[in-house]
Amino acid sequence: MKDLICIDEWKIIQKNFDKENNRIYESLMSTGNGYMGMRGNFEESYSGDSLRGSYVAGIYYPDKTRVGWWKNGYPDYFAKVLNSTYLIGIKIFLNDFELDLNTCTIKDFYRELNMKEGYIKRSFIISKDNNEVKCDVIRFVSMDIKDMICIKYDITPLSDDLKVSFIPYLDGDVRNEDSNYDEIFWNEIARGFNDSGSAYLTVQTKKLDFFVTSTMDIKLFLDGHQREFNSDDSSDYMHVSKKVDVNLNKDHTASLEKYVSLVSNRYTSKEDLITKGNEILISSMETGFDSLFLNHKNKWDEIWEDSDIIVEGDLKAQQGIRYNIFQLNCTYTGEDERLNIGPKGFSGEKYGGATYWDTEAYCINFYLSTAPEKVARQLLIYRYRHLNYAKENAKKLGLKGALYPMVTMNGEECHNEWEITFEEIHRNGAIAYAIFNYIRYTGDKNYLIEYGAEVLIEISRFWASRVSFSKRKNKYVILGVTGPNEYENNVNNNWYTNKLAAWCLKYTMEVIDLVKEMDENAYNILKERLSFDDEELKVWSDIALHMHFPWIDDLGIFEQQDGFMDKEIVPASSLPKEDLPINQHWSWDRILRSPFIKQADVLQGMYFFGDEYSICEKKKHFDFYEPLTVHESSLSPCVHCILAAELGYEEKAYDLYLRTSRLDLDDYNNDTSDGLHITSMAGTWMSFVHGFGGLRVKNDLLNLSPMIPSNWIGYSFRIMFRNNLVKISVTKESIEIELLNGKGLKIVIFQSEYILTNNGNTKLRIKN
Ligand code: BGC
Repeated sequence: MKDLICIDEWKIIQKNFDKENNRIYESLMSTGNGYMGMRGNFEESYSGDSLRGSYVAGIYYPDKTRVGWWKNGYPDYFAKVLNSTYLIGIKIFLNDFELDLNTCTIKDFYRELNMKEGYIKRSFIISKDNNEVKCDVIRFVSMDIKDMICIKYDITPLSDDLKVSFIPYLDGDVRNEDSNYDEIFWNEIARGFNDSGSAYLTVQTKKLDFFVTSTMDIKLFLDGHQREFNSDDSSDYMHVSKKVDVNLNKDHTASLEKYVSLVSNRYTSKEDLITKGNEILISSMETGFDSLFLNHKNKWDEIWEDSDIIVEGDLKAQQGIRYNIFQLNCTYTGEDERLNIGPKGFSGEKYGGATYWDTEAYCINFYLSTAPEKVARQLLIYRYRHLNYAKENAKKLGLKGALYPMVTMNGEECHNEWEITFEEIHRNGAIAYAIFNYIRYTGDKNYLIEYGAEVLIEISRFWASRVSFSKRKNKYVILGVTGPNEYENNVNNNWYTNKLAAWCLKYTMEVIDLVKEMDENAYNILKERLSFDDEELKVWSDIALHMHFPWIDDLGIFEQQDGFMDKEIVPASSLPKEDLPINQHWSWDRILRSPFIKQADVLQGMYFFGDEYSICEKKKHFDFYEPLTVHESSLSPCVHCILAAELGYEEKAYDLYLRTSRLDLDDYNNDTSDGLHITSMAGTWMSFVHGFGGLRVKNDLLNLSPMIPSNWIGYSFRIMFRNNLVKISVTKESIEIELLNGKGLKIVIFQSEYILTNNGNTKLRIKN
């Protein structure tokens, strides 16, 4: 855990330039707009340690697999989130020496990520040969015009006159640090200058034929007044630039505005990319920096209007939750059903692929409650569109139905560690669970007719072919799996996996009945198309009824998997500090033999299926499993926080909340330099709203059972539920619910029902 940033309710502030931790700050200062994004790199050259990273949603590279020992069935490639053209670069020369924070003497360094308005701002004074120069930089990735980035770079000499050269450029000569064979993934296609004067660069991925065109142009201002200028344009392989020289008197300011548009053949035909990129650029430049900035800020206002969470009395907690909400909105906005939420978003390269079970088990909850219904629906449709790949994937493994990939970009599996690719099949259950979760939350049952039932049927077919019948146990068993706790491989009967499989079969049968009831015609079409019959459903029902669930008799709890109790059970608190995290200090086989749990496993099931277990049962499971958990996945603290809050373990819930919400801000896992943990940020939101707020949906009604950490004065959050925008405010004395928008709803607070309507009855307040 590190002390990296100043605590502030809306800002992430870095007050000292810190070369050692530069990569961490670059990750922390990442920004994006769901369509593209970038790390918090500097515009000017920097010769110190840095990971320059710009990423475009959905543009990836199938890097040839690299494994020590090839196993049949491994995918040929491991998808790489593709580092693409460096868009923000502006070389700066001051009296002919190059500005480089690694070599200059710096004073008054200040950098801020402003979450409320979505921009990064930087200022510093550099001194060289007794001359001081002040630099102020502002940058935003527009939330309004998704193809635009704008930068304003101000330079003011403080002690003497100065010659300044600005060299803004686009650089396509970019490599992924995590490339398996040190390959360069891009080819240059075109570069040059449009008639309007803008510079462009079109690059193409060496595989898959993605084309990206970036176009840039500049404006120059002296003391706020726009100036004509002559620029020296030049271009070289994968590189285009302009050069502007200005002579400045002391205390006068030169400002360079750099406008960059980025278009790709995901949305525009290859032939039109250069024209389209330039059109967007020209019209944005006509609008001008200030208006573009204002429109961008207005979009962020709208986002916060629906999704803000306010904490009173605990700035650390406040900053944490806003940071998580901010980054989630930078990563995914739900406009394109082909996109998804990568574990690192636009903040780094690690974790090939964009989609893990993280989306269905975690992220969807955030979007369900804070965005229009369509956004969560898009996430489900994404998987629907990949159904054929999932069927092929199951077939390759000699199984029936559909097995969704553990990691994917386009539906194909692109992960290749056997214990994950072949064994972590619980992901299939999370995809079914997300459909259930979406229907439960939105009531949009038509989704089942249109898409959901088909996905569920194919997933159920997979489970039915993956189980085996154990004569000894007289039960169905699932052998050779890895559960969410990846510190156990190739285990038999992971309780969570078995539970999900049995639940999924049962739920699918209910859905089939529901479809029949809602629309007989649709049912007949589905039945004929997927050719299921009573025989098949009978088998499913038999499996669901007779699944083996490992059980620890003397403790009265489920066993994580067969044989778990043969381990020497010692708590994680007995581990010496210097052994932590164990995944960086222990051999893999030692981890596998240990009782230590990476992330919620049985407890993930207790959370998913919370209605099926009493508080007393949940408590017994939590008390046994949490102390064994090392929380070495970013996805771990949040689920434990939710359960701890429900069980009344206030201190534990609070600690875990801080850990999940500040995981990156304080670099808890010592890995923020690689990028942010975007998917676990949705988990942070869940710990707040599902944990402290106690939000659940039961029988079509919103249920709340709020608790408040003792060091907080109060908190409030907003959620969308069935076209109603509701604000929930909690203090130690009261719980207040306000209908901000919508027709009204019935709501359950601590088991009592209340009604909110939009005529007169918009607010209710009860004692806490
Ligand atoms: C976790 C997985 C998760 C992946 C991506 C791993 O460390 O164990 O559950 O899907 O990270 O976030």
